[in-house]
Amino acid sequence: MIMPPRLRKFALATHITLAVGWIGAVAGYIALDVAAATSQDAQTLRAAYLAMELIARYVIVPLAIASLLTGLVMSLGTRWGLFRHYWVLISLLLTITATVVLLVEMETISYFADIAADPKTSSDDLRALGSTLVHSVGGTVVLLVILVLNVYKPRGMTWYGWHKQNEQRKVSQP
Ligand code: HEM
Repeated sequence: MIMPPRLRKFALATHITLAVGWIGAVAGYIALDVAAATSQDAQTLRAAYLAMELIARYVIVPLAIASLLTGLVMSLGTRWGLFRHYWVLISLLLTITATVVLLVEMETISYFADIAADPKTSSDDLRALGSTLVHSVGGTVVLLVILVLNVYKPRGMTWYGWHKQNEQRKVSQP
């Protein structure tokens, strides 16, 4: 079903807010992740690991799922379709991959937070915990690739897209 213009604008504003918000939330997370990777101060480390879990669980995961769902609405509710253009298909696959990796990574983030919350954990143990920087920085690069694809919308139709376009031409010019 194609959305009427006003609804499409509203849906697009929602999609952009959630998807670009996801990138912003990860930027905040990276600041804590860098502190977790580099700080020697036990207080800072404890605070960073606990805050990383809160941001990831209550901000980043919901924004990731909401970006995926609103992306589906934008595709299926417009002439872009879900499988017709390579840029939409690649955005879909990259967003699904980023979301799955994030959900798996939540286990590590929760594990770090549990250890940091335990008052018996020593400063040396806290310093040895490590970070999730590879995933947070790598994830940001993937999100920026999706952002650029969505803004530039490079040409390139899938076989299915060509087929659908031809079908529609035949219907409009019998
Ligand atoms: C991190 C994930 C995503 C980001 C950062 C993102 C970002 C954006 C942005 C900034 C726009 C506005 C571009 C413009 O019209 O000038 C947009 C539009 C769009 N996005 Fe996404 N997006 C994401 C995920 C997805 C996914 C997963 C899909 C498809 C399943 C999708 C489908 C679309 C479509 C079809 C439009 C065009 C809507 C229209 O022409 O009205 N997006 N996206």
